[in-house]
Amino acid sequence: MELPDLDKLQADLLQTIENAPDLDALEAARVAALGRKGQLTQSMKSLGGLAPDDRKQAGQALNQAKERITQAIEARRTVLDAAALEEKLLTEAIDVTLPAAPRPDGRIHPVSQTMDECIAIFGEMGFTVAEGPDIEDDFHNFTALNIAEEHPARQMMDTFYLPERADGSRMVLRTHTSPVQIRTMKSQEPPIRIIAPGRTYRCDYDATHTPMFHQIEALVVDEVTHLGHLKGCIIDFLRAFFDIPDLPVRFRPSHFPFTEPSMEVDIGCSRKGAELHIGAGDDWLEIMGSGMVHPKVLEHGGIDPARYQGFAFGLGIDRIAMLKYGIPDLRTFFEADLRWLKHYGFVPLAVPSMTSGL
Ligand code: DAH
Repeated sequence: MELPDLDKLQADLLQTIENAPDLDALEAARVAALGRKGQLTQSMKSLGGLAPDDRKQAGQALNQAKERITQAIEARRTVLDAAALEEKLLTEAIDVTLPAAPRPDGRIHPVSQTMDECIAIFGEMGFTVAEGPDIEDDFHNFTALNIAEEHPARQMMDTFYLPERADGSRMVLRTHTSPVQIRTMKSQEPPIRIIAPGRTYRCDYDATHTPMFHQIEALVVDEVTHLGHLKGCIIDFLRAFFDIPDLPVRFRPSHFPFTEPSMEVDIGCSRKGAELHIGAGDDWLEIMGSGMVHPKVLEHGGIDPARYQGFAFGLGIDRIAMLKYGIPDLRTFFEADLRWLKHYGFVPLAVPSMTSGL
């Protein structure tokens, strides 16, 4: 049997390999040369038909050719691999200078924002945050706060009562944050300086009342606490909160069962038609209740009124949020309307600072 012209065969195969335009063509060339039915493989098989001397020579030549072809395939593969990678990098390149696709970002609800602002201001004054349960017992919500059984405040507050328990008592949804005063006095020794922000509930619904709303309570108990401290603390808070350094603040005698004396606090404002301006003018706007803690309340909290005095105040968070941010209807706060939240909500990372004003 005749062997093909090995030099020509090798030259042809090398040319095909070197010209292979892509990895598929290269693989086809490899199979054509070295595959089971490839030209070099077939030639190897036909060596058996040669005389021993010729076989040896032809075998060596074929092995050399195989070696060269294998090397050429590897070399071409390296080149084609690099080109394929280059192509991929070009077509799949990421342009890091492109602006990021817009992502819908959340907003901080005005109630959360206002609560955080209050906590920041009182925090600077040395207050810590205290908490109590939303579902309260009669004692903490009323009795301990000196609100007697027949006291009109119980009706006034339009309380939500829970179903009667086995012992005949009924739990309530707390009508104010004042019960946290009692819980704090029972669990802490004076000096006490706490604020208690949280949810409160009353059966009421109009533009300025919702069945669930928010209050913040403040309680200070110490050996030398007096009305001057109460006034200074409230004035400082209101001026910081509304960011009006000379905000007029007025204390007006009032009555709460849990304080004696009691005062309502007004801030200066002006009204033109439906428009309300806080900070100046000849009108007043009631903003919170306050007073010196009633001795009976101190006693209910386990504190000796002969040794300690305290002051307390409470205000509506939603209400001051409406005033500060010009939100006309309280009911919209709790309707979970995303358009409303986008309009009145706060961008999460734009944190107000104490120095730049809140
Ligand atoms: N608890 C009162 C209310 O809900 C507000 C209040 C008034 C709280 C006077 C106080 C206070 O701590 O001293 O209307």
